[in-house]
Amino acid sequence: MGHFLGLFVLLLTAVACHSASQNVTAVSCTISKYNADHIKNAQNECSDIIIDGIIVPYGVTLDLTSLKSGTKVIFQGTLAWEYSEWGGPLIKIKGTNVEITGADNHVLDGRGALWWDGLGGNGGKVKPKFLRATVTNSVIRNLHIKNAPINAVLLSRCVDSVIEYITIDDKDGDKDKAGHNTDAFNLNSNNNITIQHCTVYNQDDCMAINFGQNTYFLNNYCSGGHGISIGSVGGGSEVKGVLVDGCQIVDSDNGVRIKTKYGQTGSVSDITYQNIVLKNIHNYGIIMQGDYGSKEGVPTGGVPISHLTLKNISGTVDKTGVNIYILVANASDWHWSDINVTGGEKKMECQGIPAGTRVSC
Ligand SMILES: *[C@@H]1O[C@H](CO)[C@@H](O)[C@H](O)[C@H]1NC(C)=O
Ligand SMILES: *[C@@H]1O[C@H](CO)[C@@H](O)[C@H](O)[C@H]1NC(C)=O
Ligand SMILES: *[C@@H]1O[C@H](CO)[C@@H](O)[C@H](O)[C@H]1NC(C)=O
Ligand SMILES: *[C@@H]1O[C@H](CO)[C@@H](O)[C@H](O)[C@H]1NC(C)=O
Repeated sequence: MGHFLGLFVLLLTAVACHSASQNVTAVSCTISKYNADHIKNAQNECSDIIIDGIIVPYGVTLDLTSLKSGTKVIFQGTLAWEYSEWGGPLIKIKGTNVEITGADNHVLDGRGALWWDGLGGNGGKVKPKFLRATVTNSVIRNLHIKNAPINAVLLSRCVDSVIEYITIDDKDGDKDKAGHNTDAFNLNSNNNITIQHCTVYNQDDCMAINFGQNTYFLNNYCSGGHGISIGSVGGGSEVKGVLVDGCQIVDSDNGVRIKTKYGQTGSVSDITYQNIVLKNIHNYGIIMQGDYGSKEGVPTGGVPISHLTLKNISGTVDKTGVNIYILVANASDWHWSDINVTGGEKKMECQGIPAGTRVSC
């Protein structure tokens, strides 16, 4: 450790001379033991930060929120977090023009089984969220997240960024239904982000957007969860501009889902789901629900769903499930074509479909 520190100080001096110029000299620093000061200093002084197999102490966030423009962070080996009941996040990332990646065979191991009690966010142990990122003009790529205690990746106020080749593997949480509310991607107030080529095994939404603009969710594989969701939207929130394209949703409670809150206001507009394959969906192949949170099952029109295109969606629902269910009010301008969702034998009456939409429930 002494040698490491000596080297660290040397590099620090070398870079400080260049700090006034835009082009920071490439300096690579490796963090192989958790030390908050080293992690902080590395963000000031190093253009490449390799975080190698560290164990983060309990109740502590791995804080990467002072990344400088141009920094590359590389996770390597197995990172783990000591157990404690707290809200997290286990990692926090903030930066502009940064690249976050993982080396081959690295794992960010949340060791979720230590928290999983079947209750998720509804009680029991307090569970830390995994990764929270606020980035601009950046790339988060090639991360392998395993066994998130609860929500895995939370993106908020991200702009013009790409999140790709992320694996979120919470399969172990299927055992005894212990993993719960393990949402893969929760999106809030982002603009122009692309999430693509990701693989998710979890027990809640593969993606859920509550607020935001220009979201692209492309070529992702979702297994075991609750489907690709918009919502629940209410409280004045707007979701505008979503393209979900080329995704597969398998062994999940729902496939395509939009839910808006009963008695609230907001809007959901300019939404396209296309080229989606569903397989073994348990409850609803496609569901648009405008009564979320109401016990009476009455939809309200304060969060209208408008300019909604569904195109080329096919696949199967379990016998006991419903192929398509729509219960909305005040919706307009829907364009549905090439929908072939079959297998579900349970029928539910649809309500609020805009006139002229070619859909049969
Ligand atoms: C959206 O973000 C991408 C980078 O991911 C960028 O190339 C593109 O120009 C952005 N689009 C707009 C309209 O700003
Ligand atoms: C429909 O979607 C599937 C799955 O993404 C794709 O393979 C197929 O080419 C699409 N069909 C058309 C006509 O675009
Ligand atoms: C229907 O939506 C519009 C906005 O598009 C809104 O002004 C109106 O209040 C909504 N109607 C109801 C009954 O909620
Ligand atoms: C709809 O899907 C079923 C099975 O998934 C298939 O047998 C049938 O040919 C499809 N229909 C059309 C019109 O593509």
